[in-house]
Amino acid sequence: MSMALSLLFPLLFLSLPLSQTQTPPKGFLIDCGAHSKAQFDDRAWLPDSAFISSGQPRNLTTPGLSPTLRTLRSFPRQVKKHCYKIPVYRGARYLVRSTYFYGGVNGADHPSPPVFDQILDGTLWTVVNTTEGYANGDSTFYEGVFLAQGKIMSFCIASNTYTDSDPFISALELLILGDSLYNTTDFTAFALALFARHSFGYSGPPIRYPDDGFDRIWEPFGLSNSTKASTENVSLSGFWNLPPAKIFETHIGSNQLESLELRWPTASLQSSKYYIALYFADDTAGSRTFNISVNGITYYHNLNVIPSGVVVFANQWPLSGPTTVTLTPAPSSSSGPLINAGEVFGVLPLGGRTTTGDVIALEKVKESLQNPPLDWNGDPCMPRQYSWTGITCSEGPRIRVVTLNLTSMDLSGSLSPFVANMTALANIWLGNNSLSGQIPDLSSLKNLETLHLENNQFSGGIPSSLGDISSLQEVFLQNNNLTGQIPANLIGKPGLIVRTSGNNFLSPPAP
Ligand SMILES: *[C@@H]1O[C@H](CO)[C@@H](O)[C@H](O)[C@H]1NC(C)=O
Ligand SMILES: *[C@@H]1O[C@H](CO)[C@@H](O)[C@H](O)[C@H]1NC(C)=O
Ligand SMILES: *[C@@H]1O[C@H](CO)[C@@H](O)[C@H](O)[C@H]1NC(C)=O
Ligand SMILES: *[C@@H]1O[C@H](CO)[C@@H](O)[C@H](O)[C@H]1NC(C)=O
Ligand SMILES: *[C@@H]1O[C@H](CO)[C@@H](O)[C@H](O)[C@H]1NC(C)=O
Ligand SMILES: *[C@@H]1O[C@H](CO)[C@@H](O)[C@H](O)[C@H]1NC(C)=O
Ligand SMILES: *[C@@H]1O[C@H](CO)[C@@H](O)[C@H](O)[C@H]1NC(C)=O
Ligand SMILES: *[C@@H]1O[C@H](CO)[C@@H](O)[C@H](O)[C@H]1NC(C)=O
Ligand SMILES: *[C@@H]1O[C@H](CO)[C@@H](O)[C@H](O)[C@H]1NC(C)=O
Ligand SMILES: *[C@@H]1O[C@H](CO)[C@@H](O)[C@H](O)[C@H]1NC(C)=O
Repeated sequence: MSMALSLLFPLLFLSLPLSQTQTPPKGFLIDCGAHSKAQFDDRAWLPDSAFISSGQPRNLTTPGLSPTLRTLRSFPRQVKKHCYKIPVYRGARYLVRSTYFYGGVNGADHPSPPVFDQILDGTLWTVVNTTEGYANGDSTFYEGVFLAQGKIMSFCIASNTYTDSDPFISALELLILGDSLYNTTDFTAFALALFARHSFGYSGPPIRYPDDGFDRIWEPFGLSNSTKASTENVSLSGFWNLPPAKIFETHIGSNQLESLELRWPTASLQSSKYYIALYFADDTAGSRTFNISVNGITYYHNLNVIPSGVVVFANQWPLSGPTTVTLTPAPSSSSGPLINAGEVFGVLPLGGRTTTGDVIALEKVKESLQNPPLDWNGDPCMPRQYSWTGITCSEGPRIRVVTLNLTSMDLSGSLSPFVANMTALANIWLGNNSLSGQIPDLSSLKNLETLHLENNQFSGGIPSSLGDISSLQEVFLQNNNLTGQIPANLIGKPGLIVRTSGNNFLSPPAP
């Protein structure tokens, strides 16, 4: 098993004043199911209707709920995925937080919240299981750090095999993070999914904006052995992760030269690689030097805690099951070990995204259909188990659409000429629908093998350029309303089956 190096960055920057003027983080605060814009805690929350077209807004009657939990959006579970489309700055890094409070919205038959999946762009982020939180009367949130790879980020709620009633969401936040935050992670290949973020020795309400300039949530952890400490000399600007000053006001520590064992995070972890950041600062005179081990494996040795603060982090540290962090003082240390805060994120390999050109073309095809399949939202191909109905995609690093198959889907509307931009298409099957309009020029589809447009209401002529596609094996056009002539280059071609019966006005080919 390979283990990433843990890196130590002593902070040698000049101290900036602790209270940097805080401007609220930029991004979107979306109050799902809300009917109008509203101001909560001095920040503007938008209703979600501008970001999604499916699902139903619902109101909860549970008394005492915080404002963003009073409404939610509920989605029919029969549809594979429902997606929010949020405009983002390409290349910026976003903190994405989804919040869930069920409130019994699916009725007395379903006292427990449904379990479902959440997807960001093409990546299956996590299973959403709010059962335990809801049983305790709490909302549940998930937080991740994702790179905006395009101008739109899609966030989807998706039914899985456990989903026994309609999935829902209460709130969705996308906040831009500073470029230095978590910047040792390669966000073009990975995302971070928060597992725990705690301020040790702290017992107040969760620390967040305005203390945390990015509105990350630092939860209280551990009452015993907690100590108030002076943080005058902590150099926050020196920490690339820009933690809030408040986490350095308390710590868990020991004044004796004895080991400190922390069972943290408390929940058992599924076997994976994790990003871990541990934060330390100490103003007391003398030295505080100790070794850090995680589950008995040395994580860092001879850490010397200094007044300006240090963070020790690992980019991809394997963890599994329960976790114990042990701080063992060096014999030479004049005081015992301490720790102020910690973060653990799962390192999530990105699932990939459909090639942009194919996405744009499919959006145009969707627009030209009057009743496209309801799950045509989010990324067309990814995650693979959540690809759009009728879409089959290639494997490999460039994810292309190879089959468009909407046979017998009761479709009306027309076939957009943009279909010809999906140049990896091998099969177009749109038979048995009520499509009308012209058959577009498909000559750019050099890999097209089968074209099934039978039993529709296509009109106009058969584009003669079809005959130029050398890979074509089947052209099924029977029972449409086509006119003109069958292009001569489609006739008698070896290996090509052409069916054109049932087009009343089709005249025989010119001699
Ligand atoms: C939710 O409440 C608002 C006003 O509080 C109301 O306008 C809206 O119609 C309600 N929505 C539903 C689905 O009941
Ligand atoms: C959801 O969480 C509850 C409580 O932790 C657990 O009992 C249940 O098995 C989970 N459901 C699924 C489908 O994972
Ligand atoms: C992370 O950000 C800091 C502060 O801007 C910078 O000094 C450092 O080089 C960055 N590290 C990486 C790996 O980009
Ligand atoms: C820390 O707490 C433990 C148990 O709560 C106690 O045994 C130990 O003496 C405490 N250490 C210090 C330095 O207060
Ligand atoms: C902070 O640093 C200054 C200058 O080094 C020092 O005089 C002061 O005592 C320090 N404050 C604390 C609380 O240690
Ligand atoms: C700290 O770690 C170093 C290197 O792994 C080891 O040599 C030393 O004995 C450790 N110190 C303590 C007090 O465990
Ligand atoms: C298209 O879908 C139909 C009906 O589901 C199926 O019979 C046919 O084999 C599919 N064609 C391709 C190329 O996948
Ligand atoms: C995509 O299709 C449209 C309509 O046929 C065409 O105007 C455009 O040039 C195509 N774009 C590309 C990149 O092929
Ligand atoms: C189209 O519908 C007809 C009659 O309903 C059926 O026999 C035929 O198999 C269907 N064709 C395809 C390609 O599904
Ligand atoms: C078929 O085409 C003719 C002539 O263009 C038109 O009059 C008729 O309405 C069309 N029928 C259908 C079902 O589209």
